[in-house]
Amino acid sequence: MTVSAVSDDSAPVFRLAINGYGRIGRCVLRALYESEYRQQMQVVAINEPADLATIVHLTKYDSTHGRFPATIAAVEQGLSINGDRIAVSHCTKLADLDWSQHRIDAVLECSGHYDDIDTLQQHIQRGAGKVLLSQPGNTPIKPIVCGINEHILSADETIASAASCTSNGIAPVIAVLHQVFSVQSGVITTIHSAMNDQPVIDAYHHTDLRKTRAAGQSIIPVETGLAAGVGRIIPELDGRFQARALRVPTLNVSAMELTVTVASPVSVETVNNALREASEGDLIDILGYSEEPLASCDFNHDPRSGIVDAGQTRVSGNIVNVLVWFDNEWAYANRMLDVVSLWLNTKN
Ligand SMILES: NC(=O)c1ccc[n+]([C@@H]2O[C@H](COP(=O)([O-])OP(=O)(O)OC[C@H]3O[C@@H](n4cnc5c(N)ncnc54)[C@H](OP(=O)(O)O)[C@@H]3O)[C@@H](O)[C@H]2O)c1
Repeated sequence: MTVSAVSDDSAPVFRLAINGYGRIGRCVLRALYESEYRQQMQVVAINEPADLATIVHLTKYDSTHGRFPATIAAVEQGLSINGDRIAVSHCTKLADLDWSQHRIDAVLECSGHYDDIDTLQQHIQRGAGKVLLSQPGNTPIKPIVCGINEHILSADETIASAASCTSNGIAPVIAVLHQVFSVQSGVITTIHSAMNDQPVIDAYHHTDLRKTRAAGQSIIPVETGLAAGVGRIIPELDGRFQARALRVPTLNVSAMELTVTVASPVSVETVNNALREASEGDLIDILGYSEEPLASCDFNHDPRSGIVDAGQTRVSGNIVNVLVWFDNEWAYANRMLDVVSLWLNTKN
């Protein structure tokens, strides 16, 4: 694993900020340093309630993705990565942020606290050029899934969402199946690793009673907006999906089981061929296809949005059942970078 350096003659053009430096925020920063985007974008500010010493520690060491392969240190009111200075603030209210002093082109809003366009507007009022949300937002906020609908993003828009990790994982698979076999309806079950909104031992949760239960002990059904999300991303299929989500006691990498009815009977071979061809064609680097007998840990740090496990495809007449793996943290962080890069480079 290497990190890219910025050459003298190609200074970063766009200045990014991260609001909420948790799992996704930290993955976004690290993914930037492991990608070619480092040549055109730089994180210059982070806002996170935690103290600087903890921020430095969790930037250096990560139980899931290993050590950050860079030189990381605390500097006055900030963080240094290979000598790149990142200002760190600790505001808990959007109104207290000051993005204008850092000349921020785009904020990656990764706190998980905001999904409403009027509230997110405060980032713009505080001086940011654009806001990309790390979760689906309310209706006016466009959810962008790479490979599917990035064309709907225009340069003059200021707030957009990178949708959810599950939408990014499953929408490309649904789109291929719909294009080739005409999807009539479907059900998705997400089997998702534990997240920081679950307690280690039973504790209070204010919106979902099942999330009161210890993350490491149970398979926990939780609420999901994925069915509606599919309809927002592929409007033609709006209202034709149902979804459920189960949280399981792993740290990272999730799976989705997709069941769709298609217009006519198909075979495992034709379904797998369609998905493999898409993974080698238009959806390369977004949709993966694997014929190896792998388990979830094998997809840790995989940047692709979703990987079809060909050996798990099942067909019964016109019912198709597919298993899709995805690194819910790393793939999503990479998609946030894809979307923000595309957006900042878009000219109307
Ligand atoms: N984890 C995933 O696999 C994944 C994938 C795709 C999308 N997402 C979405 O991304 C969002 C963040 O998820 P996550 O897993 O990264 O959560 P997380 O690890 O809890 O990170 C959120 C961070 O934001 C901080 N924060 C809390 N209030 C804040 C505020 N007012 N201003 C700025 N920062 C604040 C939190 O600090 P405290 O801990 O002190 O509260 C925490 O460090 C959620 O909407 C989630 O649905 C997550």
